[in-house]
Amino acid sequence: MIYRVLFNIVVLAAFVITVNAQDYHSYANPAAVRVRHVDLDWDVRFDQKMLKGFATLTVERISPSEPLILDTRDLKIEKVETSADGVRYAPGTFKLGESDKFLGAPLTIPLPAKANRVRIYYSTSPGASGLQWLDPAQTAGKNNPFLFTQSEAIHARSWIPLQDSPGVRVTYAAHVRTPRNLLAVMSAENLSGTARDGDYRFRMLQPIPSYLIALAVGDLQFRSLGPRTGVYAEPHTLAAAARELSDTEKMVVATERTFGPYRWGRYDILVLPPSFPYGGMENPRLTFATPTMLAGDKSLVSLIAHELAHSWSGNLVTNATWRDFWLNEGFTTYLERRIIEAVYGRPREEMEAALGLRDLNEEIAGLEDRDEILHIDLKGRDPDDGSTDIPYEKGALFLRHLEQTFGRARFDQFLKSYFNHFAFQSITTDQFVDYLKQNLLNESPTLAAKVPVDEWINQPGIPASAPRPTSSAFGTVEEHAKRWLDGKVTAAQVPAAKWTTQEWLHFLRYVQDRFENKGANGSERAERLLNHAAAVLPGDSPAVRMAELDNAFHLTRSGNSEIAFQWLLMSIRNRYEAAYPRLEEFLLTIGRRKFIKPLYEELAKTPEGKQRAVAIYRRARPTYHPIAVTTIDDVLKWTEGK
Ligand code: BES
Ligand code: ZN
Repeated sequence: MIYRVLFNIVVLAAFVITVNAQDYHSYANPAAVRVRHVDLDWDVRFDQKMLKGFATLTVERISPSEPLILDTRDLKIEKVETSADGVRYAPGTFKLGESDKFLGAPLTIPLPAKANRVRIYYSTSPGASGLQWLDPAQTAGKNNPFLFTQSEAIHARSWIPLQDSPGVRVTYAAHVRTPRNLLAVMSAENLSGTARDGDYRFRMLQPIPSYLIALAVGDLQFRSLGPRTGVYAEPHTLAAAARELSDTEKMVVATERTFGPYRWGRYDILVLPPSFPYGGMENPRLTFATPTMLAGDKSLVSLIAHELAHSWSGNLVTNATWRDFWLNEGFTTYLERRIIEAVYGRPREEMEAALGLRDLNEEIAGLEDRDEILHIDLKGRDPDDGSTDIPYEKGALFLRHLEQTFGRARFDQFLKSYFNHFAFQSITTDQFVDYLKQNLLNESPTLAAKVPVDEWINQPGIPASAPRPTSSAFGTVEEHAKRWLDGKVTAAQVPAAKWTTQEWLHFLRYVQDRFENKGANGSERAERLLNHAAAVLPGDSPAVRMAELDNAFHLTRSGNSEIAFQWLLMSIRNRYEAAYPRLEEFLLTIGRRKFIKPLYEELAKTPEGKQRAVAIYRRARPTYHPIAVTTIDDVLKWTEGK
C-alpha cells in the first residue's frame, strides 16, 4: 500500500514536471500570473547610454491571489502602476529583491483584485548585459553611434522587466524615439517604413519568447534581396552585404519546400558592426549577423542558413528551458546543413558536416562528462555556459542518425509534422522524446532499435553507432597536405588556387595536427618515437613551415574571418611571430566570442602569451560587448577596472 502511494506521488511529480517545466533561470511565476503581451515605450539616449521609458504588461491571472514576479537585471525602477481596463492606471507598489550574479533580481508587484495590466517606468544601466552602445569609431561609417541588443539567453531582463523564460511567449508592440538621423529596427513588423524621423513603431503579432525581442539603432540603410527578403546595414557595408546575401530568398524557398511554410512574413538580415559577440542571432523577421561572414564569395553563408532555420526550430518550436537548448540548436544545425545541401550541393554540405564533427570531437576531448549531455543540467550556472558544440553538433548528429535510419523522406515528414504540431509552443526534451516515440519510433521497433535515443540524450560522448560525416574533397586536401608536410612538394606547388574556404580550413587543421603529432597511424607514430621532429617535419620548425605557406598564400592577410582565425590560432601555438601584428588587429576590431575566446585562451597558455593577451585586452575590453567581456574576463582572470 505504502509503495502504491509512493509510486503515485512519483508519477504525479513527473507529470507536474513535464507539464510545467521548471525554469531555474527565471524568478517568474507564470503558472500563477502569466504575461501575454508587452507594450514598450522608450527614449534611446546615446549620451547617457540609457533606454528610458516604460513597459506595460498585460497579464493573465491564473491564481488570483498571487503577485506578479518579473525578472530584472541592473534596471532602475522608478514607479509601478496597475490597471483593470488599460485606460485608467493607479499607483502600485513593488519590491525589488536581491541581485544574483547570473539571474539578476526579482521584481515583485502585488496586484489589486481586477488588475490585468501593469506599467513599469524604468531606465537601463550603461553596463546592461543585453545592450551594446557603440561609439562612432566602432562603426563602419565612424560618424554616428550605434546601439544593439542581444537577449538570448537571459539578457532581455537587463533592458525590459519581464518574465524572462523561454517557456513564456508574448506578443509585443513598441514605440521608440531616437536621434532624428538614425533608424531603429526591431524583431517585429515595422509600422513606420524606413523613413527616418526619429519616431518608430513596431508590432509582433505572433507570441514569441522574451529572448527573441531585439532592437538596433544606427545609421542604417535597407536594400531588398527578394519578394520578402532584404538587408539592413550601414551605408558603407550595404553593397557588399547585399551581394553576399543574394541567395537568401532561395534559402527560404528551399526550407519551406521541405519543412513547411515560413510563418513570419518578412525575413530580413541586419549586418551589425564587428563587435557583435555572436555569428548570428535569429531574432524573428530580422536576423542579426556579424559582418565577419562577409567573405566576398558566399563561403560563410551557412550562418544565414542557420539563423533562417531557427524560424522553424527555435522561434516556432522553442526550448521550454535552457536545459532543452539542444532542441533549438541541434535541430537548427541539422536544418542548416539541409539548406546548404539544397542550395549549394552535397559536397559543400559534406565538408561543413565533417568540419562540425571535428569541432565536436575536439570539444569533447576537453569537456567534463556532465557537459557532454544533450539534456544538460545547468542549475546554478550561467545558461550561456551551455553553448558548446554539444547542443549544436551532437544534437545535429542525433537527427542525422534518425534520418539515415528511417530514410530521408520519412524523417522529413516527421520533422514537418513536428514543427506543425508544436508551432508557437515551448517544449521540453521529454515532450520531444514522447512525440518521437509516438510518431516515428513506435512504427518500426526494428529501426528504432538502431538509434539509442536515451544514450544520445542522457549520456556523455557520442554513441558508437553515430554517423561519421566525411568529405571526399577533404581526402584530396589531405593528400596534398601530406606531400607538402613530407617535403615532396613546395608550398607553391600545393594546388590550392581553387580551394574553398572549407578546404582551406581542413588543410590548416590537418597541418596543425601533424605539427602536433596527432592523427597518425601506429607505424608512423613508432617511427616518430625514434626520430621525433624529423619524422613529422623534415628539418624545419612549425613556424618555418608556416612562413612557407604564408609566402605562397598570404594567409596572414586573409580577409576571410574563419581562415584568418584558424591561421592566427596556429600562429600562437607555433610561435609564428610574423602574424602577431595581424592577431592584435583582429582582436582589437572583432568581438565575436567564437573567435576571440580561443585566441585569448591560446595566448594565456604561456607567460609571454599571457602578457601579450593582457596588453591587447586592456585596449580591446572597452570596445567589447558586455557578454564578451564576461567571457574574456574569465579566461584572463581579469580584475583591473572591475
Ligand atoms: N541562437 C544562437 C546564438 C546564441 C546562442 C546566443 C546562445 C546566445 C546564447 C545562434 O543561432 C547561433 O547559433 N549562432 C552561431 C552561428 C551558427 C552558424 C552556429 C554563432 O553565433 O556562432
Ligand atoms: Zn543557433
